Amino acid sequence: MTGLYIHIPFCLSRCKYCDFYKLTPQEGGNVALFLQCLEIELQRLPSAFSPETVFIGGGTPTALEPENLTTLFECINQSIDLSNVIEFSSEANPGTLTPEKLAIMKAGGVNRVSIGVQSFNDKALRLLGRIHNTKEAVEGYHLVRNAGFENVNIDLIQSIPGMNPQDILDDARMAINLGPEHISYYNLIYEQGTPITKERDEGRIAPPGEDDEADHYFAVKSILEEAHYGHYEISNFCTPSHECKHNLLYWQGGEYLGCGPSAHSHWKGARFGNIQNLQSYCDRLLRNENPFDELERLPAEDKARETLVMWMRLLRGVDKKAFYELTGSEVDALCGQSIREMEEESLLQQFENHVALTKQALFISNSVLSEWV
Ligand SMILES: C[S@@+](CC[C@H](N)C(=O)[O-])C[C@H]1O[C@@H](n2cnc3c(N)ncnc32)[C@H](O)[C@@H]1O
Ligand code: SF4
Repeated sequence: MTGLYIHIPFCLSRCKYCDFYKLTPQEGGNVALFLQCLEIELQRLPSAFSPETVFIGGGTPTALEPENLTTLFECINQSIDLSNVIEFSSEANPGTLTPEKLAIMKAGGVNRVSIGVQSFNDKALRLLGRIHNTKEAVEGYHLVRNAGFENVNIDLIQSIPGMNPQDILDDARMAINLGPEHISYYNLIYEQGTPITKERDEGRIAPPGEDDEADHYFAVKSILEEAHYGHYEISNFCTPSHECKHNLLYWQGGEYLGCGPSAHSHWKGARFGNIQNLQSYCDRLLRNENPFDELERLPAEDKARETLVMWMRLLRGVDKKAFYELTGSEVDALCGQSIREMEEESLLQQFENHVALTKQALFISNSVLSEWV
């Protein structure tokens, strides 16, 4: 399996917590030039490249005006062999959705829409600096369904300051009632230099303590599971057979090419990163130069360890045989001693040639696995 990621570097405004690369209308950014250069980049990809998954993210793909969205999909369809695609996702911000844009996405081949809802609580949405309120998030979901999309994800953020346990469960219940196929539930990350991190550092907002966070995480896990959402990755839940195939590829050491400013690739054993500046990205492509710099080409063992740690995010754990076939390394040769110790502490479990996190290790997986890399 291989994947294609396309980064759309535009948003209508900056959410207070987000450090993905994007420009707002006030900051300029020439959309037509971006699309022209994206087409150049897509046409420079290896001619035999025929991905099984495509993911358009950002930024906000749906921030593009309909005519630009049409150009985007024309350019993807004309430049890439999409005949093997089984999952074609696009991210969407509820404050930017219209029936016209959704129809363009559907005609362009998108078969999975990931809606950035974050919370169904207006106070939390204001704190995060979102452009939409709860009502618009729900309307956005229905617009997506009415456009005929049968595979929909809702992104929620956990541990938003100011939300009490009831608010948190209400968020999960709202999502369940809408009935998407997939729910992502990522912890709020305080990225360096973002306004929300400044507010926290100045004591203007108070994040919940770690124990409370863990309690909320497990409470949400329980009600999602009761509603038949399978917990398949630390932060991801879905109805049967609706795992995000593109993300499974990331977690299991698969290869993908990333296009657009700041996009990353993992290809033929190396990691590449596109330059994180729209103008420089365009300048390079217009000069017929690569828009990326090689980031690292790790020794085989380091790379296998990195893959192992990512793969352990899946609740079914790592299939040792599949891991060996992919990396050429035996899981036990890499970390057998550590696995045995963690099994004794009930942090890891082994079954049918798999090694996986236990329930009690899920919320502390970063510290549990950090010694493996
Ligand atoms: C890059 S955004 C794209 C979606 C779209 N732009 C939107 O926000 O509606 C993808 C997801 O990243 C998540 N995200 C971004 N920054 C984050 C942070 N600091 N902590 C946790 N999640 C974050 C949000 O949940 C968001 O839905
Ligand atoms: S969370 Fe989404 S809409 Fe908000 S700034 Fe980041 S990419 Fe843009």
